[in-house]
Amino acid sequence: MGGRMSLRDYWYVAALSSELESKPLSRQILGEHIAIFRNESGEVVALADQCPHRGYPLSLGKVVGDTLVCGYHGFTFDCSGTCIAVPGQDRIPSKADVRSYPLVEQGLWVWIWMGEGEADHTKLPSTPWLTDTENWSAVGGVAKIEAAFEFLVDNLMDLSHETYLHNGSIGTPEVASTPIEVEVDESTNVVRVFRHMESVDCPPFYSRTTGLEGKVDRWQDIEYFPPGFYLLHARIAPVGQPPLEDGTDDHAFHMKIFYGLTPANDERVYDFWALSRDFCVGDEEIDRFLEKMQASVVQEDVDALNILQARSKTAPQWTEVSIKIDRGGLAARRVLEAIKNA
Ligand code: FES
Ligand SMILES: [Fe+2]
Repeated sequence: MGGRMSLRDYWYVAALSSELESKPLSRQILGEHIAIFRNESGEVVALADQCPHRGYPLSLGKVVGDTLVCGYHGFTFDCSGTCIAVPGQDRIPSKADVRSYPLVEQGLWVWIWMGEGEADHTKLPSTPWLTDTENWSAVGGVAKIEAAFEFLVDNLMDLSHETYLHNGSIGTPEVASTPIEVEVDESTNVVRVFRHMESVDCPPFYSRTTGLEGKVDRWQDIEYFPPGFYLLHARIAPVGQPPLEDGTDDHAFHMKIFYGLTPANDERVYDFWALSRDFCVGDEEIDRFLEKMQASVVQEDVDALNILQARSKTAPQWTEVSIKIDRGGLAARRVLEAIKNA
């Protein structure tokens, strides 16, 4: 990940909470191989995925109590990465420790701090809709894309592609035809894209879950927190009923659509997704429906981005043309460039 050092001082989604059981998971993030696991006390732990002895991946080892035991010759590490036992001798070599990475478990997701040194908790994205299970129900998953991280940023910042790529589920003609507003908060680097569609067809994704039929007002308000977190505030309401003056909006249906964009290396990105809704809370049939719908929407993006990456290799001389719908994506590219060069 040459030239991307300054992408390190951020939090990224490292795993779904549900992926972490006693068997360690191996995941590459920003080019680094990391072993992530849950110890027997239930805490989540991330250690460099390479044993200092002969380099065997620690993710192939075994969790024993609060330690991880290498699967090759048994070097044993505690949760801070300190080597606490080696076979055949009492003295532990001083260079036998491995790096440990700070983690935070927040609802469905486990976040990792990729910077050197102390984690900056003020930079940890806030996701109350993933932890307030009384008022919100959440589902989630992860996909692996064989494409550069920047392709996924472009994809998520421009939702006009829903009309064409996600035609059967969330795309209707008005997504592509309704103009957007774009704002960049220069102090925090947050990029916002607003698209408010009035009196438009309710796509199947929402009609099946909200019970609203025919025309609705549909808002898509994107907030991108570069580099690794994206939040789409979706609002579906009966036509002509905006939120009340005091901000209450009980007659509308709200969905938060989250993406954790986690670069594995220069040519692969993890696409963590989650949906949280304030309607049909606790309804498991709706959970399964949304999970299935969203997984197929994500797969459509995965397929398209795999194709773009492959094509970028064989058509290096090509020059792109941008139009108004691309303003969100272009703003995000500009902010990302500034972060990389900081
Ligand atoms: S490679 Fe891990 S103990 Fe030998
Ligand atoms: Fe998409």
